[in-house]
Amino acid sequence: MCSVAGYIGKNYSKSFILEGLRRLEYRGYDSAGFACLSPSDGRLLYAKTQGRLICLEERLNQFPIDGFLGVGHTRWSTHGSSARLDNAHPHFDCEKTIAIVHNGIVENHHELKKQLIEYGHVFHSQTDTEVIAHLFETMLATHVTFKGAVISLVARLEGAYAFVCIVQQYPDQMLLVRRHSPLCIGIGDDEMFVASDPIAFADKTKKIVFMPDESIVIAHKDVLEMYDFSGASSAIVPQTVEYDWRTDGKKDYEHYMLKEIFDQRTAICATVGFLRSNMDHIWDQLSIWADSITQLQCIHLVGCGTSWHAARMAQFFFETICKIPTRVHLASEFRCMPFFAEKNAIFIAMSQSGETADTLAALRIVNESGGMPTIGLTNVDSSTLMREAGGFLLTQAGREIAVASTKAFSTQLTVLYWLAHFIALQKGMISDGQLEQAEEELRTCAQVLENAVEEYKFEIIHTHAPHYAQYERAIFLGRHISYPFALEAALKLKEVAYIFSQCYPAGEIKHGPLALIDKNTPVFVFSHQDELIYRKLLSNAQEVKARDGRLAVFAFEGQQELICLADVSFVVPRVKPLLGQLAMTGLMQFFVYAIAKELGRPIDYPRNLAKALTVE
Ligand code: M6R
Repeated sequence: MCSVAGYIGKNYSKSFILEGLRRLEYRGYDSAGFACLSPSDGRLLYAKTQGRLICLEERLNQFPIDGFLGVGHTRWSTHGSSARLDNAHPHFDCEKTIAIVHNGIVENHHELKKQLIEYGHVFHSQTDTEVIAHLFETMLATHVTFKGAVISLVARLEGAYAFVCIVQQYPDQMLLVRRHSPLCIGIGDDEMFVASDPIAFADKTKKIVFMPDESIVIAHKDVLEMYDFSGASSAIVPQTVEYDWRTDGKKDYEHYMLKEIFDQRTAICATVGFLRSNMDHIWDQLSIWADSITQLQCIHLVGCGTSWHAARMAQFFFETICKIPTRVHLASEFRCMPFFAEKNAIFIAMSQSGETADTLAALRIVNESGGMPTIGLTNVDSSTLMREAGGFLLTQAGREIAVASTKAFSTQLTVLYWLAHFIALQKGMISDGQLEQAEEELRTCAQVLENAVEEYKFEIIHTHAPHYAQYERAIFLGRHISYPFALEAALKLKEVAYIFSQCYPAGEIKHGPLALIDKNTPVFVFSHQDELIYRKLLSNAQEVKARDGRLAVFAFEGQQELICLADVSFVVPRVKPLLGQLAMTGLMQFFVYAIAKELGRPIDYPRNLAKALTVE
């Protein structure tokens, strides 16, 4: 899971490739590399470095290379240690005349590598990618035409891959192959831009070809030839699309995560405004997909990580507000389970990036079954999810750069809270006035979210973060909607602070986890505004205290018993009960952020992670 970029044309390739890769670094940052054909003698030149793209830029400043045909890559390691420079892309054949950058996994690489070694090929990396280069070397040697070699190459490769390849003997063309992983081409004036995501070249051209699945393109500077995997020619249909690739930077914030925590009030309000002004479009989509919205019997939600947590919370919205049974699926498990298409049901695939391979795989299963309408809920309008889902809902969070998802989470909740009311309205369960009231509740909640962070930020930075940064592990508890919220908090702490954290439904601790309670394991309890649920949570908190546990609570105003019981408490004003967790979202995220900062973690780019996981 990585990003690839390529260029062929009238200009030098390096500046586009580095700028394009910078915009795509969300896809991985374990290493970076660049290769090009020398304009002077046509030789293949390359540079690769471990770590973030900046290291490659520094190297290229020190030892400049450039050419009119080039490829680049940033890596999120799958096969082969990220600590070994040999594993960085590009990868080469034996003669170092073929350079390949790749995103995806060649699943049969092991057997291919074995055969190639038997034929005398020498490998330098532990990656699956290197087999493509060596295999292509043999195919070029045994086929009369370049195209013939490519067709034979793809016939041998299994798995999901998007790769870009340049070959010293063919200085006027670049090879692009796509199977499942995304790849797109920007058509310029005597130049072609290639990347995993069109934002890489959004300022260069609006004429874009999204390569179809299982397609091959041989790109020249002024023309593209496209084939399917059998070698039949396919028509090229460029689309004219304008994408906004700019970001507003970190502003005065030290980290993107911090900025994005504070972006949330505006992002939630912008999302509400967007939904209100696009009601007709949403209505069209829902009524086309569900035979009739009033017949809707089940809503399926699927996602990974934070998106999955938002889906789990949204289950309470749909089941409570519009009374539609809702099932939530983990995308990575979905494809391992039997799938039953249902009538009068919709399938909502949720992904901030719109590129998560597991979520896209789940979507494709449903799309291919033809049995259920699908909707993509994403924050990225240029994403694969937008193109592949039957219809879409867009959050208005603005680009989220930090790997830890913050404002995408709160705006997903916003969309789904609103959608539950919108469906209720269509079913005649609520009035338009009540939908407007729900919008107002969301705006109020957004303000509470921000105020809560402002109120506690000084205390968190100076008192709580230094204290909680000392622990090696933590337990998180919640009930009802605060349970998936606690799951999200535990994920955040793992992800940015590297503190082992385990989450349970509070009622479950007596069935085993209570054995873990000791002075070295803080327990965080996320309260609920509903009196009955609150009382039960209070009992669970008492069970922890009775065993000398260190208790920190995120509570609501008036929950004195819980607040007094705790060693540390954060208290948030009451909002609509189902929005209580959204109101404490900023506080929870800021708390985790401050601990990570205290520990000196690379907050925006945590180790081993990436913003978009494009491998399954
Ligand atoms: O882009 P997606 O929403 O599909 O991403 C899913 C997860 O990879 C993502 O939410 C991940 O868990 C975040 N880094 C959590 O902060």
